[in-house]
Amino acid sequence: MTMIKNTEKLRSKSVTLHKRPVSAQIYLTYKCTSKCRSCTFWQKKCEELPLDKVRTVIDKLVDFGVTIITLTGGDIFLRKDFKEIFEYLKSKKVSIILCANGIIFPDSIIEMINQYGRCYVLFSLDTLDKKKYKYLRGVDQLDRVISNILKFKVKARNLPRMFMTVSKVNYEEILPILNFCKKNRLSVTFCPYISAEDAVWVTDDPELKFDKSIRHKISEEYHKLAKLSKTERSLFGFSEYYNFCAKVCQGETAGPCGAGYDVITITPNGGVSACLNLPEIGNIFNESLEEIYSKDWQSQVKKCYSTLPCAMSCTHQILLARKYPLKFIAESIRSGRFIDYIGFLK
Ligand SMILES: C[S@@+](CC[C@H](N)C(=O)[O-])C[C@H]1O[C@@H](n2cnc3c(N)ncnc32)[C@H](O)[C@@H]1O
Ligand code: SF4
Ligand code: SF4
Repeated sequence: MTMIKNTEKLRSKSVTLHKRPVSAQIYLTYKCTSKCRSCTFWQKKCEELPLDKVRTVIDKLVDFGVTIITLTGGDIFLRKDFKEIFEYLKSKKVSIILCANGIIFPDSIIEMINQYGRCYVLFSLDTLDKKKYKYLRGVDQLDRVISNILKFKVKARNLPRMFMTVSKVNYEEILPILNFCKKNRLSVTFCPYISAEDAVWVTDDPELKFDKSIRHKISEEYHKLAKLSKTERSLFGFSEYYNFCAKVCQGETAGPCGAGYDVITITPNGGVSACLNLPEIGNIFNESLEEIYSKDWQSQVKKCYSTLPCAMSCTHQILLARKYPLKFIAESIRSGRFIDYIGFLK
């Protein structure tokens, strides 16, 4: 309770500093080349916005003050107009993050990314075992994904970052995946599987969920990561984030997140929500972002973080970095991590 109260105090301070989010996640499509057990997107019917409307979304976000835009999905590379969307973002001079499952990754995209310094790619990498990959991601594509990651790494201007969704099935691979990333000079974040019934995004899969028998073990792995993150350059995320994950794995609702405050979410039909896991609060084509933001989305977010054990990296890391600024800066410098993403924020 004390943790939640303290973070809420911090939140009210940070909101006065950041009245609007600086970062947005645009879900370009729910169509996907994978069928992950952890995610519902690939099963959804999905209408995509045409290119001119995606450009309008980008214009509105930039006018609203957003400077970092994540393109995500689904599989963003299934969109035939991906290059045009990327070019438009470049013309707006925003920093770009691309979230990819690594299955489709054409050379022409590599060139495009490298011509623009302010972009990095986040690849999902949940396991190095082919059978587990098929079990978790629903498709037999591990070899192709690894090959695309390593091919891109050789040419990449900013260090590619791996993203492992840690569940009951793969938690024993945390250290092997970290070692794989160290060996290949890649960066990696380890985020616990979020499970919820009837959620917009996540599943509630008993095969993946942390049950009582395993919580302690997974939490121990996160405490190891917290120690390592103080000096390990390949480990993206600082010690307070991994200590926080350790609590969440024990089933604690660990307190406020940055959903809506730091990050705004746009769904494939132009819907606006504070978090991908929450219902839409409006549509960008029916109302202005100012009007949408004047609604009470905060109580939705509060209800969610008060009941759901969640350590989603994009919404919790910024908040924790603001809560522990000196630790965040010191560990980023000591580990050398800050060097890897300096170009991205220039
Ligand atoms: C929604 S996906 C979007 C990008 C792309 N489709 C992919 O999977 O790489 C973003 C990240 O969330 C992860 N993820 C999926 N289901 C999750 C869950 N239930 N809890 C936490 N992370 C999850 C994915 O593995 C992926 O790394
Ligand atoms: S997690 Fe990503 S790759 Fe997997 S089904 Fe969901 S959207 Fe597709
Ligand atoms: S706790 Fe926050 S980031 Fe996690 S699902 Fe809920 S609103 Fe989203």
